Amino acid sequence: MDHFTFTDGALHAEDVPLTAIADAVGTPVYIYSRATLTRHARVFRDALSVLPSVHIAFAVKSNPNLAVLKVLAREGYGADVVSAGEMERALAAGIAAEGIVFSGVGKTQSEMIRAVEAGIGQFNLESEEEGVELAALAAARGLTARAALRVNPDVDAGTHGKISTGKAENKFGVPYDRAAEMYARLAALPGLEMRGLAVHIGSQLAKLEPLESAFTRMGELMRAIRAAGGSITHMDLGGGIGVPYKADETFPSPEAYAAMVARVTADWGVTLMFEPGRVIAGNSGVLMTQVVRVKPGVTSPFVIVDAAMNDLARPALYDAWHDFLAVAPSGTRMTAHIVGPICESSDTFAMGREIDAVKAGDLAVFRTAGAYGATMANTYNSRALVPEVMVDGARWALVADRIDPATILAAEQVPDWLE
Ligand code: LLP
Repeated sequence: MDHFTFTDGALHAEDVPLTAIADAVGTPVYIYSRATLTRHARVFRDALSVLPSVHIAFAVKSNPNLAVLKVLAREGYGADVVSAGEMERALAAGIAAEGIVFSGVGKTQSEMIRAVEAGIGQFNLESEEEGVELAALAAARGLTARAALRVNPDVDAGTHGKISTGKAENKFGVPYDRAAEMYARLAALPGLEMRGLAVHIGSQLAKLEPLESAFTRMGELMRAIRAAGGSITHMDLGGGIGVPYKADETFPSPEAYAAMVARVTADWGVTLMFEPGRVIAGNSGVLMTQVVRVKPGVTSPFVIVDAAMNDLARPALYDAWHDFLAVAPSGTRMTAHIVGPICESSDTFAMGREIDAVKAGDLAVFRTAGAYGATMANTYNSRALVPEVMVDGARWALVADRIDPATILAAEQVPDWLE
């Protein structure tokens, strides 16, 4: 459920007509609904309340906007970060260092130092080598880094290949069969407190079965490590729950997910950690765009919009579907290709899709753009970096400026030997 609805024939975010935002900020622009974000955060948290001890760390990569993080911090969420930049954002939003999990396959030494000095809650180690480095860096500072070992369970998540992470050939985690011995060696190092295991098999998962197989395997590994004398107090089950991008898609509910986790982990006796991203942020945002013009095509007309693959990369990268709705639909429909202005054919949002009939100057939105939207934007074709707005009831605010091409140009220099 979200708070983007039609009132008197015009699309609103909560109580704000989107036309008001377009008039003030221009397009393209991301618009987040605070009520939707809060609702998703609560639904997920309430679903997990059937479990005895839980820590939820929002996957900052899905939407790192400071105002978004602030909303989630106020809902008691921690943060799952994958760079020093994300960690600084989480801290700036008021998320306690102890609630931060540092994931990521390529943490640099300077990132590890900063994070260990900040006292973050847990490092999810992606290799034994990383653990050895972290232990030495922490010990040299008289500190102890709390850590979990990320294990690759070799499970097929059944999602798009580019967002699948839990097959043996993927770069993530340590091999399942070698994890117990690595854990024992790491646990013996001064400077490191090994407290558990972590797993994340992929994103936009449509079924619970792959997660259940992965968690079951993790439980077996946990028991083997304990039987060998190892201590495990925390198990991080990652993120990955998918959301519907099309009206007719169904996805497991947070309650069904929680029930599955409760069943699999009933006798684990640990704090369970979760790293949801998309399921919290996805439906909380839309990307508003304006139609530049409609150009005749051989099979269907091209609706050329002012948003492009640099603003919303998902269709170009993963063939992802984002529903397209006119902000003030006329009631008629058309079949069209929806494309952006960028000079390559991958700048295509939809091919031959039946949509609200639109013409030059009309406003429209791409739905379900709150996760992996603005955060993946770039300035390709010397376009502006897209701005972000948050709505809260009848009020709204710009929560990230449009960075215009002149500002980006001002950060470049021509060396004097080229003058
Ligand atoms: N934890 C780890 C270790 C992750 O790598 C990810 C996502 C998450 C949690 C959050 O997953 P979620 O709950 O959001 O599925 N750009 C792609 C998605 C990449 C996901 C990367 N990792 C997309 O637009 O679909």
